Amino acid sequence: MSTVTLTHVYKVYDNADKKAAKDQTPAVSDFCMEIQDQEFIVFVGPSGCGKSTTLRMIAGLEEITDGEIWIDDTLVNDVAPKDRDIAMVFQNYALYPHMTVYDNMAFGLKLRKVADVKRDKNGKPVLDENGNEIPVMRKYTKAEIDEKVQRAAKILAIEEYLKRKPKALSGGQRQRVALGRTIVRNPKVFLLDEPLSNLDAKLRATMRSEIIKLHDQLGATFIYVTHDQVEAMTMGTRIVVMKDGFVQQIGAPQDLYDYPINTFVAGFIGTPQMNFFDGRITPDGTITFANNQTIKLSKEALANFDADKIGTGLDIIMGVRPGDLKVLETPNDMSVTARVEVIEALGNETIIYADLDKNAEVHLEKGPTSIVASAKLKKNPARKSEIILGIDEEAIHIFDRATERSIRK
Ligand SMILES: Nc1ncnc2c1ncn2[C@@H]1O[C@H](COP(=O)(O)OP(=O)(O)O)[C@@H](O)[C@H]1O
Ligand SMILES: [Mg+2]
Repeated sequence: MSTVTLTHVYKVYDNADKKAAKDQTPAVSDFCMEIQDQEFIVFVGPSGCGKSTTLRMIAGLEEITDGEIWIDDTLVNDVAPKDRDIAMVFQNYALYPHMTVYDNMAFGLKLRKVADVKRDKNGKPVLDENGNEIPVMRKYTKAEIDEKVQRAAKILAIEEYLKRKPKALSGGQRQRVALGRTIVRNPKVFLLDEPLSNLDAKLRATMRSEIIKLHDQLGATFIYVTHDQVEAMTMGTRIVVMKDGFVQQIGAPQDLYDYPINTFVAGFIGTPQMNFFDGRITPDGTITFANNQTIKLSKEALANFDADKIGTGLDIIMGVRPGDLKVLETPNDMSVTARVEVIEALGNETIIYADLDKNAEVHLEKGPTSIVASAKLKKNPARKSEIILGIDEEAIHIFDRATERSIRK
């Protein structure tokens, strides 16, 4: 059993200028979360949003400014890192270059002590005058260390490299040794801070699935930090999306994808990125946006949204994922027309870059009327031709423009 609970956790870094520290924006603000036993949690967000800081606070490598962190039933705010039963893998893991793979993995164990009872030469517990066993801390034996290293090596498929030095390994093999060093310790919680970001794309994909397998095998709780939303979506049982030190949304990958709570999460999760348009919605479900095109939601679709928020009309940001657009033959209530700018035929699907304003100048950057659709097409439209794009009304996202929050009920 190993749960991790954070309640109202804050981190303000003390900089040299102590006076300014009080007014400093926290690196992490009001982080609240209960992580269940054996979950695979991913912290994701742009660089500088507070992911590593949160992870380091859980590890005990960074002091907590305010709030509480619990591991199982223990408040660990003041527990030393080595006593937290957690292990951390960093982006810039450093293996000892002069040691073999075996020794790199064994090294940490040689330094650690294990709780045991006093024993005689034959390994039988020695009793005190009251007949009780006598607790002692002792070093791991050679045999115990060997058993742990061999087991980790087997899990990671690096048994044949145990005698090699790190320089004779590929990047992926070295990364596995770094993981191996944490596995031998058999921790309750694994903390991984962008462990794959130094690897090339192909290896990253392989290691991604290896880490998922590792999680299944070890049955431990994993907390994994990445700035890559694809990694987050494919690895996490739940994802925590962060921005500027604040948790934006916590949820299963599909829930974040289907029901993003605000424009930030909506834009961060999913590729190609969601299309956003400034617009206005009226109580009958009519949405006017980009170059005065209009669509009208059916009663059923309109019922997904908060009528009180819409009121007599609301300025909104409308969001549509590229995959929720279809190329139609004839227009309907939910369709718009667009001029095709660029076509990327990927074989299995086509990405269409188009503009909702057929008189718009060609934008090199995304303009306010540009739209991206991804579709399976039998025949790709010609550049500069006009197409009809139908929007899946069940998959439309509507955000209050003032707050950027979803108005979905
Ligand atoms: N040791 C430090 N001292 C002062 N500020 C720091 C320190 N470490 C991180 N920060 C700041 O805290 C914020 C969060 O950083 P970090 O947790 O490393 O973000 P992430 O891992 O999401 O990229 C950033 O603004 C960063 O500059
Ligand atoms: Mg970081």
